[in-house]
Amino acid sequence: MLIPEKEKAKVRTKNKVKTVTYKIDDKYKSIGKNKSYFIKTYGCQMNVHDTENIKAILEQMNFRESDDMEKADLILLNTCAIRENAHNKVFGMLGRIKHMKEKRPNIIAGICGCMAQEEGVVDEILNKYKWLDIVFGTHNIHELPMILDENIKNKSLEVRVYSCEGDIVEDIPVKRDSKYKAWVNIMYGCDKFCTYCIVPYTRGKQRSRNPKDIIREVEKLKEAGYREVTLLGQNVNAYGKDLEIDYDMSDLLRDVANTKIDRIRFVTSHPWDFTDSMIDVISKYNNIMPYIHLPLQSGSNKILKLMGRRYTKESYLELFDKIKNKIKNVSITTDIIVGFPCESEEDFNETLDVVKKCKYDSAFTFIFSPREGTPAAKMKDDISSKEKEDRLQRLNELVNDYALEANKKYLGKRVKVLLEGESTKDKNYLMGYTDTMKLVNVKASKDMIGNIVDVKITEVHTWSLDGEM
Ligand code: 5AD
Ligand code: SF4
Repeated sequence: MLIPEKEKAKVRTKNKVKTVTYKIDDKYKSIGKNKSYFIKTYGCQMNVHDTENIKAILEQMNFRESDDMEKADLILLNTCAIRENAHNKVFGMLGRIKHMKEKRPNIIAGICGCMAQEEGVVDEILNKYKWLDIVFGTHNIHELPMILDENIKNKSLEVRVYSCEGDIVEDIPVKRDSKYKAWVNIMYGCDKFCTYCIVPYTRGKQRSRNPKDIIREVEKLKEAGYREVTLLGQNVNAYGKDLEIDYDMSDLLRDVANTKIDRIRFVTSHPWDFTDSMIDVISKYNNIMPYIHLPLQSGSNKILKLMGRRYTKESYLELFDKIKNKIKNVSITTDIIVGFPCESEEDFNETLDVVKKCKYDSAFTFIFSPREGTPAAKMKDDISSKEKEDRLQRLNELVNDYALEANKKYLGKRVKVLLEGESTKDKNYLMGYTDTMKLVNVKASKDMIGNIVDVKITEVHTWSLDGEM
């Protein structure tokens, strides 16, 4: 049993990060024979991509995928810890799985991902959810074959969670959800320690992948027919800072652009590390998409300071204007938290003021959720939930107005859309995204899926556009 420890997860060691290569031992390859698996994923793109790795590892072990949890032999929840409601959903789901396990005791049930990295969660599992079979964290997905093997051999709960990050593991297999769009990790972890955020504890210290490994992955994807890659990291602008070579995010963007893959995106950016050379590279290469997700979190300097964000309202606006002026046709989205401890009505108005100035294409808005072990969880939270809900609603109304306003500019225009699949709203439509990340429903036949096509926008809504080829 290996249990995560809060105090250790905080530590940033000077240990050199090695890169190692994944290989599965032949002895694990028959474990999943005649068995099926079902994975439910919560949270961000990083988790979605981890699930793609987990699926491929399970298939190396001969498990086959099932889309029916009720029938699967192995059920895994890949969890998110970012806010309380993500937590609650997972514990709710565990209730359902327990019920299923009472009827079918041979099911293997497990938890992985960010919640598994939390000491409090693992304590709770050991107290109340002993019937679970496996628990592993974000640092050891590659150990899944061994963890499953131990559980099956010992017939008991196998908990294996490292408190701290280890090596970068290359060549973990991947079963991608899409044939056209791919997630590509460029770095793991985060060293920013924004005071509200659990990520630096659940994902460990910042570790950048070697540029040559990233470029090789993108080249292979291009050869396999992929049209788009999204470079993933918690704070991608800090890419390379931990490498021993002089190489940063602007170098990486340039080199990935030179692979000539059609579309390149990247998430998430922190305003602090967004350099002029990055802006130059993005504006220079046509295959780097003019779409930037630039989390604001708050417009009040007092709150930004309490959040440990390292920028001010003024410097954020300066960066925002620079990006808008230099990158043609750019769309910018953001994340905002309301109800952070000590946020007064004036502080909240500062946030609304930034939204009015930036007129974001869209924004993800959240009520502050205290996360155990983070500094903000200990700050005095004296705002009533009614007030927080009210602020969220007022913010959302403003955000929605600007989202619609931004979309209206597309009416009658021609845009390029990568057609990804059938639209969920109508089977006669396909869906895809513009270079600026606008969701478009297009009247087109299925054989066009996977193409980047010219679409004329015929109708606009707050969250999507309609168009025809
Ligand atoms: N409470 C509310 N929102 C949070 N986020 C991160 N941590 C918290 C928290 N404790 C939001 C931030 C971040 C996004 C991914 O989630 O806005 O950018
Ligand atoms: Fe969390 Fe992002 Fe801040 Fe890192 S930069 S601590 S992931 S909010």
